[in-house]
Amino acid sequence: MHQPGITQLMKTTLSGKNIVIGVCGGIAAYKSVTLLRLLKKLGAHVRVIMTLNAGAFVGPLTFEALSGLKVCSSLFANDDGDASIKHIEWAQSADAVIIAPATANMLAKLAAGIADDAVSTFLLAVTAPVLLCPSMNTHMFEHRSVQRNLKILKTDGYHILAPDSGELACGVAGPGRLPEPEIILDRFIACLTPKDMFGRKVLVTAGPTQEAIDPVRFISNPSSGKMGWAIARAAEMRGADVTLVSGPTSLSEPLNVKTIRVNTALEMQQAVWHHFEKSDIIIKAAAVSDYRPVNPKHRKIKKDRDEMILTLQKNPDILKELGKNKGERILVGFAAETEELQKNAAMKLAQKNLDLIVGNLIGPADSGFNADTNRVKFIYKDDTIETPPKMSKDAIADLLLDRILRLKASG
Ligand code: CTP
Repeated sequence: MHQPGITQLMKTTLSGKNIVIGVCGGIAAYKSVTLLRLLKKLGAHVRVIMTLNAGAFVGPLTFEALSGLKVCSSLFANDDGDASIKHIEWAQSADAVIIAPATANMLAKLAAGIADDAVSTFLLAVTAPVLLCPSMNTHMFEHRSVQRNLKILKTDGYHILAPDSGELACGVAGPGRLPEPEIILDRFIACLTPKDMFGRKVLVTAGPTQEAIDPVRFISNPSSGKMGWAIARAAEMRGADVTLVSGPTSLSEPLNVKTIRVNTALEMQQAVWHHFEKSDIIIKAAAVSDYRPVNPKHRKIKKDRDEMILTLQKNPDILKELGKNKGERILVGFAAETEELQKNAAMKLAQKNLDLIVGNLIGPADSGFNADTNRVKFIYKDDTIETPPKMSKDAIADLLLDRILRLKASG
């Protein structure tokens, strides 16, 4: 299964923040151990509060060893004589809370405002955002009362992560499984990210295209898709409705993004046109092959000749065609250049009728194809040029979206 990786956005969102993980008594409690480790790795200050039943699945010592902090599991004085009003202190200092797994019992208590143990009492005192991750047997999850409580909790402003479907520990197949810790983390960051792109319909293209020569060979380029996928992911986190049209990549699928996979430039063209009409921001980060072989062979070409001539024909320039039909949309292109970055990118901006082009230096190991960082220039229609420092592709994605929103606001 694809799992989203750790991004710069995650680090900036969580570094130095007070996060509380609430663990309830479910078989999935062990996944909260990995969640704790991931949050710590991102620089968060993490504390664990757990129900007594949770202790039957994972002992408090495990969480204490990994967080380096005492776990709170009781409303009353613990063995150290530490009169426990931690649940109130922790609720007040928490920047955000994750309840994973959230059992049917805990959801019911929270929906009804019942406070009769450390976790439920803590939850009533929390004012920070809370992500609830329900996990239980499928029949329990589908029970009318659980569904009713989830509806109440959603209306009350809680973030709810839908459980995965699959084979559960109890042998039943269906929804109820706690998503993997990486997914919980990704959705937790999404909860904490301001939704300044809510209502925007964003279309992003990414990755290379592959143009078949025969069934075992193709023409392509080294694009990894990292830049375009980072843009799609950042826009989704910021609340946009995102469609990603991507050539072949080995990246993890961004969550909550409509991802359409294509191979050739012609397939990309078709998918892009299908979604163009209803998009208001289009960002073309794909490295489209400019040419494709004429009449690709249906059988493997044998090496029975010393020389071989491959005849190529030009692919359509997707972005240029979009530019002619742009209307009120914001159209952003990328320019992959090995030399004269500014001049060549500015020329493409004019030829393709763009609002903004991202000039992308290809060649150095820390920029362009397959790198995790990028060196870019933002060139605008009014000839303004911005040169951000070398940054991670995630950070460039966010900066680009900031600039696009500014263009939207001024246009
Ligand atoms: N592009 C496109 N369709 C193509 C070629 C490029 O939509 N057939 C888009 C790319 O997605 C990018 C922009 O046009 O946003 C510039 O692509 P680039 O490869 O840098 O330049 P080209 O226009 O292909 O020109 P050249 O290869 O001559 O530099």
